[in-house]
Amino acid sequence: MARTQLSLASHLARLESETDFAGWRDAARRLATNDIPPEEVAWQVGHDDDDRGNDLPACRQDARLVVPREFIERAETVICHSDPERFNFLYRLLWRLRVDPKLLSIASDPDIRRLESMEKAVRRDIHKMRAFVRFRKIGDGAEERYVAWFEPDHFIAERNADFFVRRFAGMRWTILTPHASADWDGERLAIGPGASKRDAPAEDDAETLWRTYFENIFNPARLKVKAMQKEMPKKYWRNLPEASLIPDLIAGADRAATAMIARMPTSPAPRHAKVKAKHWPSPEPADVVEPESTDIPALREEASGCRRCPLWRDATQTVFGEGPENADVVFVGEQPGDQEDLAGKPFVGPAGKVFDSILDQAEIDRRKVYVTNAVKHFKFEPRGKRRIHSKPNAGEIRACRWWLDKELDLIKPNLAVALGATAAQSLLGKAVPITRMRGDVIQREDGLRVFVTIHPSFILRIREHEDKEAERERFLTDMRKVKQLMAA
Ligand code: URA
Repeated sequence: MARTQLSLASHLARLESETDFAGWRDAARRLATNDIPPEEVAWQVGHDDDDRGNDLPACRQDARLVVPREFIERAETVICHSDPERFNFLYRLLWRLRVDPKLLSIASDPDIRRLESMEKAVRRDIHKMRAFVRFRKIGDGAEERYVAWFEPDHFIAERNADFFVRRFAGMRWTILTPHASADWDGERLAIGPGASKRDAPAEDDAETLWRTYFENIFNPARLKVKAMQKEMPKKYWRNLPEASLIPDLIAGADRAATAMIARMPTSPAPRHAKVKAKHWPSPEPADVVEPESTDIPALREEASGCRRCPLWRDATQTVFGEGPENADVVFVGEQPGDQEDLAGKPFVGPAGKVFDSILDQAEIDRRKVYVTNAVKHFKFEPRGKRRIHSKPNAGEIRACRWWLDKELDLIKPNLAVALGATAAQSLLGKAVPITRMRGDVIQREDGLRVFVTIHPSFILRIREHEDKEAERERFLTDMRKVKQLMAA
């Protein structure tokens, strides 16, 4: 904070830290209820040798201050931005909201545009941290813990810490950043001061693994340098073990692509296949040696050891499709849920109950149809003792499509029913809008007809009794159509 600015302002608002949102909120409330305009306020983080204290007046109880919830939520994100002007900027917005409660919906307003762009920058940084933090192991046995160094653009370490707790609940880890560190001892999260890169360990065995993985999944024929740099901007490269390979891989891409095409019919080098199968299987179906299953039980057996994407590591087991091999129709869901993961059978939990009862009403005998999922491992995030369903991503859907294609090849149904967006994406090879396409029958290039509808869990999530019943009725109508199409 420039001293001139500080001495010109008649009020000083001190915050405890760069992300002290509670402090900002309290100060903003005191200022606004006392009608103190933004230009009369200077904001400062922490204490320096300036001897001015926090001299804000108490909140005026008789003054009414109504702030939209949306603003509070957005301000909580924007306070993590590294712009030193953000405290004053947010206060200016609040000041304007007092007389213009609709301000947030005026997209052309320069302050709103600025708010939006700051919000986006913070979100993007949060996402990058989730994608590019790499832990290094230190200590063994009871002393084992994982430490990562990361340099975000904004003050996001604290805000992102919960994500890492959920993702790595069973590990003891510390993430160091220049402004704050987050430490998880398996039970308690502590946020501490910033650190320097020297505090983080340099290299461990996992680096070799990451490099091997990256080398294996790098496909020179699909190299798009711009897209790759957008996803993994250069500034992150220095802290990623696999990044040391990138310049050489890019430089050699043309050569490598030509060589790769020449090698095409050959299987991957045995060393690569071994590393992949053991640690980090490639999600690229083309890289996996195809088993030769000629019936569903054999395919199920093979799928039980599936390592085509990392989901197998947290799930209990592969939940393969079930039903007769000569079924007329194949119903495809999204992925097994908690109960299916434990039982090893598709659609046996709450969504399965809804599905069963509506099939029954539509006079479709579940024992005569084949029921499976687009993704065959349960993807979840641990929350306490619960495992919360997490939507599979496009890579996981693509990786698992290999099994679904095999199931369809062997069963050769008359009709496939896509229950929800993930199933439709897998069956049609691209994301489609379910609400618009519901009830449509789409013929694929291979001749298979795909009927698109909602996922039964959608009905479960509706709270209002009447809406729930109406949606149930619509699903029943869909299933009656399926019954007609099955025979056609
Ligand atoms: N939801 C699905 O999509 N599949 C199941 O097997 C269970 C719930």
